[in-house]
Amino acid sequence: MANHWNRILLLGSLIFPLCYITVNGNITQNCTHFQTYSWRNILQRMDLKVQFMLLTRRNPSCAQPISDSNDIQNSNFNGSLPTKLIMHGYRVTGSKPSWVDTLAKELLGAMDVNVVIVDWIIGSTALYHNAVRNSIELGLKIAILIGNLMSHGSTEDSFHLIGISLGAHVAGFVGRMFKGKLGQITGLDPAGPEFSKASVHQRLDPGDAVFVEAIHSDSDKFGISRPVAHIDFYLNDGKDQPKCSQHLLSSVYKYLICDHIRAIYVYISSIKNHCPLVAFPCESYEHFRNGQCIDCYSHSLQRCPRIGLLERGGLSADVLPKEVKVYLMTSSQPPFCDLKSNQMKAQ
Ligand SMILES: *[C@@H]1O[C@H](CO)[C@@H](O)[C@H](O)[C@H]1NC(C)=O
Ligand SMILES: *[C@@H]1O[C@H](CO)[C@@H](O)[C@H](O)[C@H]1NC(C)=O
Ligand SMILES: *[C@@H]1O[C@H](CO)[C@@H](O)[C@H](O)[C@H]1NC(C)=O
Repeated sequence: MANHWNRILLLGSLIFPLCYITVNGNITQNCTHFQTYSWRNILQRMDLKVQFMLLTRRNPSCAQPISDSNDIQNSNFNGSLPTKLIMHGYRVTGSKPSWVDTLAKELLGAMDVNVVIVDWIIGSTALYHNAVRNSIELGLKIAILIGNLMSHGSTEDSFHLIGISLGAHVAGFVGRMFKGKLGQITGLDPAGPEFSKASVHQRLDPGDAVFVEAIHSDSDKFGISRPVAHIDFYLNDGKDQPKCSQHLLSSVYKYLICDHIRAIYVYISSIKNHCPLVAFPCESYEHFRNGQCIDCYSHSLQRCPRIGLLERGGLSADVLPKEVKVYLMTSSQPPFCDLKSNQMKAQ
């Protein structure tokens, strides 16, 4: 068994860039890392190179590769536990997403789960249009992985796909391949460019999982403005986030992506559950801001949904309504709860 494990790791080490965890100078396990994007990848015209990295409570910071059935067999994957898949989106410079370690750590801290990080850095970098084209093939590869994990004990409803930007639509493709029977999809500011006029089959939609939620934070630039989920959370007006414009003075890049990545940071913060990020169904942000939508009990939801790991956003309804826009005000920093406006609403 141990020999087999070594062979797997050795094989892995030929394929994946690795480092070791050492215990008193002894190499105990090789860790898998994000692939690195280089000029060679530009010449190779963006082929899609995907790797799947597993983190569990037994290996919370040293990822194991789980690209095929043998890998899964020899990993810490536990088919009796729920599985969270994290899918990043388009990468401008080919760098590892800065938030990915924190998101995985918070998920493992909150729940005993398998966390699978999908690394498609190579196929998602440089030209946005190519990344969009690659996302279909990526969806197929993820569907194959899920099929493999199911033959290791997972059930369809135990999967939760967390997709960021373009990754949210990838989650949608994957969900459709399972006829909407996967447990949950969370889309964090699902991408807008090339998707805003797409049909339901080409983008994330409520038919893609048992429960689909989306958090919109930049719907006038990189995010999609229309609702695409059962419950669509709009942070503030869904377009401009508090204190994002201040980056204009320091870094243009930070300024450009600040609204877009706010959805990720709000979601990460919600996992810790420091304060309730409750949202209110409303026709528009203007109505919401004018205090016209303060009642959680008088509409089809019966309860106001919350951002976080609560099942179905804390909703009790057996039949979920679709494309319900819900609004909440947030502050500019973790834990992001705008206590003043929540108090106002509670009165
Ligand atoms: C880790 O990878 C190195 C090669 O990079 C290999 O020599 C070593 O045996 C591997 N460690 C284990 C525990 O398999
Ligand atoms: C390193 O591994 C060897 C062989 O498994 C073992 O005999 C030795 O005690 C280990 N050393 C330390 C410092 O853990
Ligand atoms: C897998 O998870 C189940 C449920 O928590 C647990 O009872 C079981 O011991 C785990 N299996 C392994 C090999 O850790």
